[in-house]
Amino acid sequence: MPAQIMSVEKGGQDFPAKLTKQVIVCSIIAAFGGLMFGYDIGISGGVTSMDDFLLKFFPIVYKKKHKAKENNYCKYDNQLLQLFTSSLYLAAVVCSFFASKCCKKFGRKPTMQLAAIFFFVGVVLNAAAMNLPMLIVGRLCLGAGVGFGNQAVPLFISEIAPAKYRGGLNICFQMLITLGILCANVVNYFTSNLHPYGWRISLGGAAFPAIFLGLGSLIIVETPTSLIERGKTQEGLNALKKIRGMEDVQKEYDEIHRATEVAKKIKRPYRNLMKRSSRPQLICGTILQVFQQFTGINVIMFYAPVLFQTMGLGADASLLSAVVTGSVNTVSTLVAIFGVDRVGRKFLLVEAAFQMLISQIITGVILAQNLKATNSISKHYAYIVVIMICVFVSGFAWSWGPLGWLIPSEIFPLETRTAGFFFAVSMNMICTFIIAQAFLTMLCHMRSGIFFFFAAWILVMGICAAFLLPETKGISIDEMNEKAWKKHWFWKRYFKSDDEQDVYIEPSTQDKP
Ligand code: BGC
Repeated sequence: MPAQIMSVEKGGQDFPAKLTKQVIVCSIIAAFGGLMFGYDIGISGGVTSMDDFLLKFFPIVYKKKHKAKENNYCKYDNQLLQLFTSSLYLAAVVCSFFASKCCKKFGRKPTMQLAAIFFFVGVVLNAAAMNLPMLIVGRLCLGAGVGFGNQAVPLFISEIAPAKYRGGLNICFQMLITLGILCANVVNYFTSNLHPYGWRISLGGAAFPAIFLGLGSLIIVETPTSLIERGKTQEGLNALKKIRGMEDVQKEYDEIHRATEVAKKIKRPYRNLMKRSSRPQLICGTILQVFQQFTGINVIMFYAPVLFQTMGLGADASLLSAVVTGSVNTVSTLVAIFGVDRVGRKFLLVEAAFQMLISQIITGVILAQNLKATNSISKHYAYIVVIMICVFVSGFAWSWGPLGWLIPSEIFPLETRTAGFFFAVSMNMICTFIIAQAFLTMLCHMRSGIFFFFAAWILVMGICAAFLLPETKGISIDEMNEKAWKKHWFWKRYFKSDDEQDVYIEPSTQDKP
């Protein structure tokens, strides 16, 4: 998850800073957290479509899958099978709360190390799983890793990156997630023919990013912001010199110090978040995450191989199709990296909504007309559906995917930023959990109608993006309220002059008369 947020705002100033080897190496190491997350997203769909895996843990689903008379749409409808995928997100929601505390109290580095440990334990339990509880506990551990990793990694990258490279590095994190998904798809394609343990290799493959993250996090530096925030000012100054590759960092140091002092005074971020003047950002940030998930993207990311098998494609063709959609996902993310600051957020969101709407409708119509309860559709139509899914995924990858994370990280003012972002991240995980847990059952009951269900959501989100979202391109985070929200035709009414300063700031001892 490409969450990106700074714990303190550096006043929007651009300090002279090179993109040093330190920053690059540390970012790469930290980004293994993104790779790990992506791998976990992508691996479950392929594994749940493998017969050896089903036979061992879900024999009922295996029997259903191979029963000639079984309804096409219901072959995989099983709550426990869905729990295998969804449990990870449940654990991630719970753990991201503790992770945000851990990040603040102990720093980004130990939080990442904790994530790596959870990841590693989860991988071992999954790869060696002898029964269903072991498998689910493994997924819960991976979820804990995701919760800790997704909180610490983006924060870490944002804090060490020189300001002018921050936007690009942010979306690169999403890029690594998509690469993780792609790696998982490729691994599944090759392991599916290794009987009977191919699924163990697939699940065990996640050990690589986990080990890299764990070992790498031993050598990276803690962020200057985190050190200064925790009172280790001299260490903070030294760390800043190291990552900037120069001695003259006093200006940036002073700014971080100033910002951490301001941030420390804000004792009730959640209370501030509930104020009327925080509502526009809270509503938009949260709803963007809900919309991101209700595009239906994770139906494809989690269940593409299962979906393709439902349509009658063979096991290999299904896994290969997942590799194709995974590649489209990765390549299209590049468009976001280069386009987001040129054409703006709103254009990408609205254009992609249109593209995704059309592809969902075409998919729905093809399935409604051709895939009945017990037949299989012609290869010809199956491949049109695969193409439509690629069109859908590409639209998502250059818009709602990365921007679903980028926008919530840039629209909150300092006093509510961490709290607001935490809300947004949690909403994402909750909605991901709902989709993962409900999709196969919804597919069984709604059949092709499920695609029209997502199409309806996409229509609504396209309209909302066009009319309710302010354009944030090129506006510094500091000036967001003034230049974006207070100028927006709808949201400006939330900023009454007597409401503007309604931030709860605990008076410090010096401030007291
Ligand atoms: C979403 C994930 C999704 C991924 C696909 C991310 O932005 O948060 O839920 O699986 O994109 O690339």
